[in-house]
Amino acid sequence: MTENAAASPAPASAAVPRPYQPVGMGEVLSQVRKPEDLVRPAAVEFRNVSKTYNAGLPNEYTAIRNVSFVVEDLVAKGEFVCTLGPSGCGKSTILRLIAGLAPQHPATAGDVIVLGRPIDGPGPDRGMVFQDYTSFDHRTVLDNVTFGLECQGMPRRQRYDLGRHWIERVGLSVDKDQYKYPHELSGGMRQRVAIARTLILRPRIILMDEPFGALDPMTRMNMQDLLLTLWREVEATVFFITHSIEEAVFLGDRVYIMSNSPGTILKEMQIRPSDKPAKEMQKEAGFQETVFYIRDVISHLEESRRAGT
Ligand SMILES: Nc1ncnc2c1ncn2[C@@H]1O[C@H](COP(=O)(O)OP(=O)(O)OP(=O)(O)O)[C@@H](O)[C@H]1O
Ligand SMILES: [Mg+2]
Repeated sequence: MTENAAASPAPASAAVPRPYQPVGMGEVLSQVRKPEDLVRPAAVEFRNVSKTYNAGLPNEYTAIRNVSFVVEDLVAKGEFVCTLGPSGCGKSTILRLIAGLAPQHPATAGDVIVLGRPIDGPGPDRGMVFQDYTSFDHRTVLDNVTFGLECQGMPRRQRYDLGRHWIERVGLSVDKDQYKYPHELSGGMRQRVAIARTLILRPRIILMDEPFGALDPMTRMNMQDLLLTLWREVEATVFFITHSIEEAVFLGDRVYIMSNSPGTILKEMQIRPSDKPAKEMQKEAGFQETVFYIRDVISHLEESRRAGT
């Protein structure tokens, strides 16, 4: 993807619901988009999805109710979708439903459709990066990065060549790091391994659940810059959950704001792609205006939850 394309406005869908409200470097759509609002088919579609944990038991709990949204399948680009919302509103539930992971999968009601098909479990079209460092302790960096290829039966020589390429791509050093074990790495380095391990498999959809939540602010911004660079290269759809509004506005082409539990998508925003590193973008007035707007929406949600309204 070219620099120009990276800096162009958010992809316009012919039938985006209007009117919408401009806010800094983004726009709030008048309603969450529906399938008929898309120009291209959806990468991910939720149709009235609900998830009740422990259904029928005394501790039954409905985490999300009637959630509907569509993520467009932008060919040769992919869309970067960030989801924000109060703790416990069901963000991870949604992400794990897309991943097809139990006990979130299957949904209690509604349809989860990925690339045109109802999902029946995890698949190679989807890759996941978690917040906690999920590398295998007894495997080296190289063996962690190439784990998925090993499972696919790729010969060792070939997978190690590819693994070393990805070790460099995520900013680690083949010379210094390939034979290290996870306990010898910092948190940031471990997340680089996790990203390499996922991207090496070239999934069409990348699912990330607060992947940078445990990193210090500087490392986090460096990782955000790295992720945007890699994403522009791999052209996948990214579904990214974060508690950081700045992170969502910096990374996202699109931001969903979720309501309190049982969660639904309250607002959908489209955001102009960032054309500078995170540290620079965060100083811009338009960026801050968007952040302050979202902060107000979320703090209002938190207040209404405390007040029980
Ligand atoms: N396996 C489970 N069994 C029972 N309840 C669950 C399960 N997983 C999640 N929940 C409940 O569902 C609700 C939504 O959980 P979820 O993890 O999706 O929230 P979240 O938005 O990701 O929160 P956070 O921001 O704190 O990560 C929470 O109240 C949680 O306690
Ligand atoms: Mg969560």
